[in-house]
Amino acid sequence: MRKTIIAGNWKMYKSPKQALDFAHSLSDIEPNETVRVIVCAPYLALPLLKEKVTLPLEISAQNVHQEEEGAFTGEISASMLTSIGVDITLIGHSERRQYFGESDDVVARKVRRALSHELDIILCVGEHLEQREAGEEESVVSNQLKAALSGVSKEEMKSISIAYEPVWAIGTGKTASSEDAQAMGSHIRKELISLYDEETSSACSLLYGGSVKPENIDELLAQPDVDGVLVGGASLDPESFRKLVEAGNRK
Ligand code: PGA
Repeated sequence: MRKTIIAGNWKMYKSPKQALDFAHSLSDIEPNETVRVIVCAPYLALPLLKEKVTLPLEISAQNVHQEEEGAFTGEISASMLTSIGVDITLIGHSERRQYFGESDDVVARKVRRALSHELDIILCVGEHLEQREAGEEESVVSNQLKAALSGVSKEEMKSISIAYEPVWAIGTGKTASSEDAQAMGSHIRKELISLYDEETSSACSLLYGGSVKPENIDELLAQPDVDGVLVGGASLDPESFRKLVEAGNRK
């Protein structure tokens, strides 16, 4: 059975100490067995979180470089992450695509590199507002998926969850309707059947992201093809994040 995933994406917020304080204040959360609770922390906070924090809070990176190693000033490799026990990463977040020029090809190379180090991946896809207004959202997401998953085997798909994050809903307070989130979830499910098969598709956790908060999470998680959420702003405050985890338990 696929898992419900409640993932917080802290982006460029929280010092290591603030990250640890957050984790400590949530040490009593009790997610159901079918729920994974993940925080995607800034690189600097990862070593301390990995050292001090135990399940049920899982710790993820927000990005990873596509090359094994080399002269890439300021970058972090997959083996550096695994060397401190980090075994999950986001890949292809729209802010990486938009502000750091990550093309579909770069995203695909990151996916393959992360898989070769046995990292779990939350792969982000999603259309811009103009693309939705032109009715192109499904083809945009299909193309992003086909590119990112090229060369990824059925077996490797077990390590991948997919987060649909319409760019126009990120940080804007404008959430996609639960119908739109479900429609895209169902589209992604069909795309995975055509790329792989029914079994692979139905085992893959699909997340929705974009202005998710305690007030709207239940409606989103009520959709059959919304298995979880990737949350930016509303994941920063521990009490708000706690409410998101509680909603995960109600799914
Ligand atoms: P948001 O961000 O919840 O602040 O809209 C979501 C994300 O970027 O993953």
